[in-house]
Amino acid sequence: MKHLTYFNRFSVIIITGGSSGIGCSIIKAIQTVAPDITLCNLSRSKPDIFLGKNGQHFPVDLCDANQVAHTAAGLLNQIDAAPAGEVLLINNSGFGDYGRMPELDIDKQLSMIDLNVRAVVDLTARLLPPMLERGGVIVNIASTAAFQPTPFLATYGATKAFVRNWSLALNEDLRGTKLRTLTVCPGPTQSNFFKAAGFATPPMKKSGNKGLDMTSEEVAARTLKAIAKGQALVVTGWMNHCITFFGSKMPLVAVTRIGGLILRKMRLEQHRAQ
Ligand SMILES: NC(=O)c1ccc[n+]([C@@H]2O[C@H](COP(=O)([O-])OP(=O)(O)OC[C@H]3O[C@@H](n4cnc5c(N)ncnc54)[C@H](OP(=O)(O)O)[C@@H]3O)[C@@H](O)[C@H]2O)c1
Repeated sequence: MKHLTYFNRFSVIIITGGSSGIGCSIIKAIQTVAPDITLCNLSRSKPDIFLGKNGQHFPVDLCDANQVAHTAAGLLNQIDAAPAGEVLLINNSGFGDYGRMPELDIDKQLSMIDLNVRAVVDLTARLLPPMLERGGVIVNIASTAAFQPTPFLATYGATKAFVRNWSLALNEDLRGTKLRTLTVCPGPTQSNFFKAAGFATPPMKKSGNKGLDMTSEEVAARTLKAIAKGQALVVTGWMNHCITFFGSKMPLVAVTRIGGLILRKMRLEQHRAQ
């Protein structure tokens, strides 16, 4: 794992959503290579793993703009106090909500936009000045759902399309500076995501784990490798890569229709299971 020595350049790592799933696995992976780093985790619940002797948990509901602003002020102090070195910001917190309008709870949909979109832009913008000075990487966790409209996960897919496009554009805005972005697009990954999104049974259980899904550890390892390789965009897993590649060659209306048929079938099965 030669690429992991790359992480010695960072003196501060800020991650959102390290309390479970992909975020928690990223923290664990980073700790194996940079155990003494100043690590700041932002989520509502405290991760039940040790964050390291310089680790700190910032309890925050990132759906709340006031809490984002307050926490960002604390993070700026942490960056200020940290030894010389680059900053790694990982915008990972997010959730989905499975169902059809108008049955879905509109407040939950709007909170999703606040977390998946607003908080990502707000937190990044607030941390940009010291990051531009020190250099570093901004990792934004999007999804393969970002590549086409996603019926029954309509708002979620649209938030991830925003993250993907915004993150790639920001990378170009930052060209010529010491800062860059990495956009990560995981496919179905074993985590709390599907339960939180309202799935009775995660789709990968139905597929019998035929290679469509990945573990959060695999996604974390791929993310760290992509950071070290200086990649701008990574779709995790060859199968997800193929699906997004061939999907992008098809007319958008047709891809949306096919996605709708697959997700509608899951929806009917969820109802039968209840
Ligand atoms: N699992 C998948 O199949 C999959 C696929 C593609 C992309 N993704 C993306 O990967 C990212 C991580 O998801 P995951 O799969 O690891 O799911 P997860 O296990 O449910 O983790 C979600 C994380 O987001 C945090 N979070 C949720 N609401 C929050 C809020 N209001 N304020 C602050 N933090 C909040 C949670 O922490 P608290 O609850 O403690 O606040 C948790 O740590 C998400 O952006 C998701 O969209 C997941």
